[in-house]
Amino acid sequence: MTYQQQYKKSINDPEGFWAEQAGRIQWFKVPDVTLSKDEHGVDRWFADGELNTAYLALDYHVLQGRGDQLALIYDSPVTNTKRSYTYKELTAAVARFAGVLKAQGIEKGDRVVIYMPMVPEAAIAMLACARLGAIHSVVFGGFAASELAMRIDDAAPKVLVSASCGIEVNKIIEYKPILDAAIDIAAHKPSRCIVLQRDLCRCELNDRYDLDWEIGMAAAEPADCTPVLATDPLYVLYTSGTTGKPKGVVRDNGGHAVAMKYSMDVVYDMQIGDVFWAASDVGWVVGHSYIVYAPLLAGCTTVFYEGKPVRTPDAGAFWRVCEEYGVKGLFAAPTAFRAVRKEDPDCLLAQQYDLSKLKTIFMAGERLDPPTYDWVLEHIQRPIVDHWWQTETGWAIAGNHIGLEPAKVKAGSVTRPSPGYNVQILDSHGKAVAANEQGSIAIKLPLPPGCLPTIWGNHDRFVAGYLRTFDGYYITGDGGYLDDDNYLFVLGRTDDIINVAGHRLSTGEMEEVVAGHSAVAECAVIGQASDLKGEEPLGLILLKDGIDIDEEELQRELVKRVRDQIGAVASFKHAVVVQRLPKTRSGKILRKILRNIANNEEYIAPSTIDDPACLAEIETTLKEKGVRK
Ligand code: COA
Ligand code: AMP
Repeated sequence: MTYQQQYKKSINDPEGFWAEQAGRIQWFKVPDVTLSKDEHGVDRWFADGELNTAYLALDYHVLQGRGDQLALIYDSPVTNTKRSYTYKELTAAVARFAGVLKAQGIEKGDRVVIYMPMVPEAAIAMLACARLGAIHSVVFGGFAASELAMRIDDAAPKVLVSASCGIEVNKIIEYKPILDAAIDIAAHKPSRCIVLQRDLCRCELNDRYDLDWEIGMAAAEPADCTPVLATDPLYVLYTSGTTGKPKGVVRDNGGHAVAMKYSMDVVYDMQIGDVFWAASDVGWVVGHSYIVYAPLLAGCTTVFYEGKPVRTPDAGAFWRVCEEYGVKGLFAAPTAFRAVRKEDPDCLLAQQYDLSKLKTIFMAGERLDPPTYDWVLEHIQRPIVDHWWQTETGWAIAGNHIGLEPAKVKAGSVTRPSPGYNVQILDSHGKAVAANEQGSIAIKLPLPPGCLPTIWGNHDRFVAGYLRTFDGYYITGDGGYLDDDNYLFVLGRTDDIINVAGHRLSTGEMEEVVAGHSAVAECAVIGQASDLKGEEPLGLILLKDGIDIDEEELQRELVKRVRDQIGAVASFKHAVVVQRLPKTRSGKILRKILRNIANNEEYIAPSTIDDPACLAEIETTLKEKGVRK
């Protein structure tokens, strides 16, 4: 079927379309019901189907005779390590670690928080949870102890899985102190913490709750796959919302497996045995979907890379890995290519490698700026697929579906909606706008399989955040437009979320941390354009009356606060003191205008502004302090 045929069928007959796709995975009990409503009235896929995601990702392939094929290749320039697992080996390791978890009392529905660097054991832990029907929640290593504690309290895990350290280029990040601090801060106390000792920096284990990964593995019996319902959660992944508390996006088993398999075909054009490399981290949704689950569900070989696009050791890292493992599809954030371009402007390092196996480069996570697109295209000469999605959906809402037919690429567009996503552009009243008119990007319900059915432990937040704004629609939080050919143009977030180096961060959360400083009366944190990271946070600070503080010292303290309370990944490096913050008459800070001013963009002051003179004042302050673009 062509893209048009598939898209039409998926919108006109979603049940028929997805029932057909569901037939392509091996269920323990084939679902009789394709689409139904749960107790909250939310659409659910394959409700009475039974399966096990780890079985589909591993055992199934072994049973199909693919046991000796490579499942996972670990390449770690930061530790000079290369290791690979066949499907048979990975299945055995996962079954054994599932046995370790089982011995700790983990059963179906229990939560396990995983706080690990990019080591294969992270994938083994995730898949072991899936094997037992337990729910994993992976926390990105760049988050600080209090962020980890917040997730521990929300997910209430029985067990934590971690490692002694991570490595950032050449800097050792000791995980154990972060872990211990998080357990101290959290009200919920896990009963066990399983720690992988890494030779670069072993840590001291305590008798209270620590268990050495190796000791656990040596003593464990392999555990079997537990059948789960399609609607049972596979994982909870926390993502930034507009408030300080992250949202636990819930992913179910059945819809996810069907969507992952489908997307590997149509979005990425990957077949059994192909090598796929998503150069991201297991702590992000890209890592969940396209480092771990989808490539394995599709019988591909996934590359697990512990390194950076640059400095490990140089800007040729991407091309070296592509040659060495015969990567067919490379997926990374545009910021990674901007980093490569900065260090190797003529892309000379790529010429040292044989990239003949590389067919397509995929980009997502943030807006793909035309200069980056042009540069990669010029030097690598492969189709570049920009596709748009979010933690909540788990797979591409829109893209160029090369597995069906490559479409004509339009500059600046993420191409067309994926089959299953009825994308509409709505005005502020929820009315669909005409082609080429901007509005809120919404998806008409039902969402396709794989998308979130709720927020962990807080269904009201799911309804309030995504479903209540426009009846019958899910709102994405992004603004944009569809053109006459139904090509989608994503123009950016309509809320207080920013995207720093492809990482989703909440300015609201940073504001809460900054405002906690004793000298700060009020503040606004905005995303300022950055040539490398897309956006970087900038804090505008209003001091309390009578405070006399050195501005550089204040900036140092605020930077440290954000680093300590959110993590290094927030990249909060700049804070400037201003005399006033522009507000509406009802007292709301005009953050969008602040962003325009900081980025030196045109803006129109709204009629609701309290004191228009304040804008010129801010312009002058930012110029004087050298932070205006
Ligand atoms: N554990 C601990 N710290 C981490 C971390 C982790 N897993 N990941 C990042 N950090 C730290 C970094 O060391 C850095 O600390 P510093 O301020 O002390 O230098 C800080 O968080 C900011 O990291 P980052 O924004 O990644 O900047 P960078 O300068 O280290 O690297 C790039 C820049 C562009 C090379 C890097 O951001 C990159 O590869 N981006 C790709 C993004 C990506 O894969 N996104 C996933 C979505 S597809
Ligand atoms: P995350 O949930 O971390 O994956 O972040 C999702 C957000 O990143 C989206 O809501 C968008 O704002 C942004 N995003 C992701 N992919 C793209 C893309 N291809 N183009 C523009 N923005 C993107």
